[in-house]
Amino acid sequence: MKHPTRSRRLLAGLSALSGTLLLALVLTACRTEPVAVSDVPAVPGAKFVGNQVCFDCHTNINRAFLASPHARLYVSDLGMKSEAGCESCHGPGSEHVRVGGGLGKFIVNPGRAPAACFVCHQEIHSQFRLPHHHPLLEGQMNCAQCHDPHGMDIHKPAGGLAFARQDQSCAECHRDQSKPHVFVHEALREGCASCHQPHGSINNKLLLARDNNLCLRCHAQIANPTFPDGSISIGGTSHLTYLSRGTCWSAGCHTAVHGSNVDAKLRY
Ligand code: HEC
Ligand code: HEC
Ligand code: HEC
Ligand code: HEC
Ligand code: HEC
Ligand code: HEC
Ligand code: HEC
Repeated sequence: MKHPTRSRRLLAGLSALSGTLLLALVLTACRTEPVAVSDVPAVPGAKFVGNQVCFDCHTNINRAFLASPHARLYVSDLGMKSEAGCESCHGPGSEHVRVGGGLGKFIVNPGRAPAACFVCHQEIHSQFRLPHHHPLLEGQMNCAQCHDPHGMDIHKPAGGLAFARQDQSCAECHRDQSKPHVFVHEALREGCASCHQPHGSINNKLLLARDNNLCLRCHAQIANPTFPDGSISIGGTSHLTYLSRGTCWSAGCHTAVHGSNVDAKLRY
């Protein structure tokens, strides 16, 4: 299902672009309904040729791609035969094909140039410019380390195992936080993104919130009548005097937020 608000935002972003290409890309909300119009990365002088032509030489990429969200992008003026999902990211391919293909031959590679993705995902560009961010615009990593652009599931890293979870990508670079612990913090089952903003954040350590609200979203404070002062309880323990000491993790209480090997209360 397509999220209406998100697609409207995307369309607003797209139409705001001063595109040189006037090709209409029509995408489908479900696979049969054409919906929108857009712009793609430019390759001077080149025209669209459609996925089928790319498949002839890049057969290995063909297989899983049809399940990717980008496979649903169409070039409208050539009709439904002209699925141009490949060219939505790589730019029109006629010149690349004319010279028989090749590295650096008239084709955009967003693995080296993430600007190709920002043509359509402008809000993601802004996220990478927040004060705390993964060093992607600095050229130290790329989108494909977390998103498989050609695979069945764009939310898993390229080359990942079919049954891997989204967090597998995080684990490849952040082993300490992802490794198994004796006392697991169940929050991790919901994924790293339940506390971190993966692209960038205004908060240190890419956190969704810089204060106790990070934790209190899941750990409700309950007024507990069995405590003498009727004070707030979190996890069955009175926290009245604790919450003013700092954050749940920095005040010395639950320092091992990702899991602990010594203490169920998540301490080192
Ligand atoms: C005639 C065969 C042929 C066709 C058709 C073809 N390619 Fe290629 N392409 C190649 C070859 C060969 C390479 C170099 C691969 C290598 O050395 O690993 C290549 C490389 C690429 C690269 C990597 C370029 C780089 O600089 O990193 C991309 C991206 C690419 N092709 C996309 C496409 C797309 C999209 C299409 C369809 C529009 C397409 N190709 C059609 C043969 C072809
Ligand atoms: C969502 C954007 C996107 C779409 C759609 C897309 N690609 Fe790519 N493609 C990328 C990125 C990003 C890389 C760089 C991957 C990397 O660095 O690991 C890439 C790399 C490549 C390469 C270089 C070799 C490689 O595997 O690294 C080829 C060839 C290629 N794509 C062909 C295709 C073909 C053919 C299609 C359509 C079936 C396609 N791409 C669809 C984003 C896309
Ligand atoms: C031509 C425009 C265009 C380009 C270029 C493009 N995308 Fe997309 N992308 C879209 C659209 C449209 C959707 C939503 C498709 C849908 O709703 O099914 C999407 C969906 C996605 C999603 C899934 C979002 C979700 O809600 O699950 C990811 C992740 C993504 N793109 C990453 C990338 C990356 C990484 C690149 C560059 C390698 C890229 N895109 C390049 C248009 C584009
Ligand atoms: C460090 C890993 C990482 C990198 C690098 C990364 N992403 Fe993401 N991205 C994620 C995760 C994780 C999510 C899912 C977030 C969530 O579930 O809240 C996501 C979500 C998205 C979405 C869907 C956003 C939405 O609002 O639903 C898009 C589109 C996207 N990424 C595009 C990109 C593009 C384009 C790049 C490269 C310029 C990129 N990402 C680089 C990890 C990453
Ligand atoms: C390709 C490697 C790579 C992947 C994949 C990756 N990261 Fe990172 N991460 C980095 C790098 C590099 C930094 C910057 C480190 C620095 O500046 O010291 C970083 C920084 C961070 C930070 C801030 C650390 C600090 O001390 O400020 C957090 C939090 C983080 N990543 C979480 C994640 C999450 C969550 C994911 C998965 C969605 C992820 N990372 C995927 C390489 C990666
Ligand atoms: C329950 C919330 C939560 C979840 C879920 C979570 N983190 Fe964190 N993470 C934090 C907090 C809080 C900090 C800051 C710790 C500090 O400053 O001492 C942090 C810090 C980090 C850092 C910076 C280094 C460090 O330890 O201070 C990295 C890297 C990181 N997390 C990666 C991950 C990865 C990868 C995942 C998923 C496997 C993940 N986090 C899941 C809350 C979380
Ligand atoms: C995404 C939801 C979620 C977030 C966010 C979250 N937690 Fe948890 N946490 C859980 C779940 C689920 C459990 C296991 C059930 C329980 O004990 O409530 C748990 C258990 C705990 C425990 C062990 C309780 C015990 O007695 O065994 C501690 C301590 C804890 N969390 C601290 C934190 C801290 C500190 C933060 C903020 C950095 C945080 N949690 C954020 C979901 C979350």
